[in-house]
Amino acid sequence: MDKVITVLPGDGIGKEVTKGAIEVLEAIAERYGHSFQFEYGLIGGTAIDETGSPLPDETLEKCRKSDAILLGSVGGPKWDKNPSHLRPEVGLLKIRKELNLYANLRPITFFKSLAEASPLKPENIEGVDLLIVRELTGGLYFGKPSERQTRDGKEAAVDTLFYTREEMTKIIRLAFELANNRRKKVSSVDKANVLETSKLWREVVEEVAQDFPEVEVEHVLVDNAAMQLITNPRRFDVVVTENMFGDILSDEASVLTGSLGMLPSASLSYTGLNLYEPIHGSAPDIAGQNIANPLATILSAASMLRLSFGLEEEAQAIEHAVNNVLDLGYRTKDISATGSKVLTTDEMVAEVKASILDREAISNIMSAYK
Ligand code: IPM
Ligand code: MG
Repeated sequence: MDKVITVLPGDGIGKEVTKGAIEVLEAIAERYGHSFQFEYGLIGGTAIDETGSPLPDETLEKCRKSDAILLGSVGGPKWDKNPSHLRPEVGLLKIRKELNLYANLRPITFFKSLAEASPLKPENIEGVDLLIVRELTGGLYFGKPSERQTRDGKEAAVDTLFYTREEMTKIIRLAFELANNRRKKVSSVDKANVLETSKLWREVVEEVAQDFPEVEVEHVLVDNAAMQLITNPRRFDVVVTENMFGDILSDEASVLTGSLGMLPSASLSYTGLNLYEPIHGSAPDIAGQNIANPLATILSAASMLRLSFGLEEEAQAIEHAVNNVLDLGYRTKDISATGSKVLTTDEMVAEVKASILDREAISNIMSAYK
């Protein structure tokens, strides 16, 4: 299979982790006889520095010509004081909107070998397997007006929470379809005791549910959902929610099973041109030190193989390799525990590749720990 992948390393550790994921994709290409061509584009703070724009047109054009997009991360203190339109995050929001990446899928799975890295007790997280389906191109992030104002002579600011029924229907229907292939439960998260958008959201959930009689549906208020994610995460299968609630709950959920550094995400579009990125941010404090955890980006590459290219076996090969390396006791610093062998980013990537290619793990690592 021949595919063109646009890689947007972005800022901070984004550069290191995407480099690792590309190496792993190359190992897959070697083992299964595929050819992946990588095109590079600028986004975020790096793009601002080099072109004056957080998402240059050239980047969008490259993305549109490719089969899938792999993104690292954007942001960093260097650009924190920039005016709103020149912040790295604007590049991310713009690419989501321009490419209609309406659905962000964030699976939270339990890694047995990482149970002790979780802030929760092992017995509370054993077997957690949930999927957050977050609406990504609407709500407070994009509603107009969003601006500073003066009201009655007082300084003020406004953001707008706006959704069309059509936007709601698309994301909610997708959640039901995904649940239908999983444990058949949808937890719809809203704030229908207060917000008009949530009341309409609930109506749409009830309507879509009619088409999926086998899927159990429940409505959970967002504050309660935040609590239940901690007290009883196993009760959730597919969680569907609007953009801002999804942003907050997915960070919360992501640490349930260990580390933010482990979790992949996929952003799906109507057209089939999808974007894959780790959930974690650019971690400027550790950037450039070769200690970042590349596994979330490597697992995002696995999702790309599965969801964009239909390469299920290859996707599983990556996931098995990651599990295998963790079972061998290899860790990056963020997930290290007593008795584990702490690797650099490059060493971790080399271990995953070795596992995929069924080769001896890289030469000097084993001996270094003897
Ligand atoms: C995420 C991030 C982004 C978001 C930021 C960087 C704009 O937190 O992908 O969850 O809020 O969507
Ligand atoms: Mg977030």
